[in-house]
Amino acid sequence: MSDERPRPPRTALITGAAAGIGAAFAEALAREGCRLVLVDRNSERLQQIKDSLPAECETMTADLTAEGDLARVEARCREGLDLLVNSAGFGHPTGFLATPVEAEIAMARLHTEAVLRLTLAALPSMIERGRGGVVNVASVLGFFPSSTYSATKAWVINFSRAAAVKTLPDGVAVTALCPGFTRTEFHDSAGMNMTAIPRFLWMEADDVVSAALRDWRRRRSLSVPGWHYKAIVFLSRMLPQRLIDRVLAYASRKPLAVREGALRGAP
Ligand SMILES: NC(=O)c1ccc[n+]([C@@H]2O[C@H](COP(=O)([O-])OP(=O)(O)OC[C@H]3O[C@@H](n4cnc5c(N)ncnc54)[C@H](OP(=O)(O)O)[C@@H]3O)[C@@H](O)[C@H]2O)c1
Repeated sequence: MSDERPRPPRTALITGAAAGIGAAFAEALAREGCRLVLVDRNSERLQQIKDSLPAECETMTADLTAEGDLARVEARCREGLDLLVNSAGFGHPTGFLATPVEAEIAMARLHTEAVLRLTLAALPSMIERGRGGVVNVASVLGFFPSSTYSATKAWVINFSRAAAVKTLPDGVAVTALCPGFTRTEFHDSAGMNMTAIPRFLWMEADDVVSAALRDWRRRRSLSVPGWHYKAIVFLSRMLPQRLIDRVLAYASRKPLAVREGALRGAP
């Protein structure tokens, strides 16, 4: 096994780079002198981000739920990267029983198929060179059975940890980033009412990203930014599953704004 820690990445591809956590990754990596490949579905916003960054940037407008677009980005990953960040994602404002199945499938494709295909496309050249890695943005909700969203994020956590186990001996680090509530456009885009979420639970995207990059460089397969979210994840592993299920069932009946989306769709 190589003892060397991942060096500062030289070329990084970021999905969902036009907003929120993806944009914060772009800013942090640009400051480190990385060349960037910015992927998102909104070309105007991609261009704005590109113009604002002090880095060499390539942009790819792609809807990662569309086969042709995903295949194009997959091909770019195969050309060789030092870091892949899969951040593109969204949630639904309604629970899965009230959401059209096509919308559920689109979310599942973005959170699982796109993450799987881009990771598998990027890893071989990293393994060959013995360096680099992947950060897959999951969620603290991936530790709880709360929604189809949480189910897709549980897959991201499990898959990323499996990839980390396989690639660590080759000097490649894969990290599942599990943020809690983070101030981005995520909740507004999904039409979620977040007024019931206490202020102390909110994190800034920049803080989430610096914790993620630190954990990735330490070759940790899991990154949970924030002491309160670390405590929540710890409890999710210690408490009996039945108790967690009952608490979640109770919370989903409560007439709080949380019911309008917080526990179903985010973080
Ligand atoms: N914010 C939180 O509280 C939180 C907590 C835990 C985990 N997360 C996860 O963090 C990741 C980033 O979310 P964020 O908070 O940064 O949200 P955000 O501000 O809404 O950014 C997400 C970006 O992904 C893009 N995107 C969505 N669907 C796409 C598609 N099919 N193809 C390409 N790009 C697409 C969005 O574009 P459009 O604007 O065009 O939709 C947007 O630019 C997501 O995976 C999310 O699940 C967020």
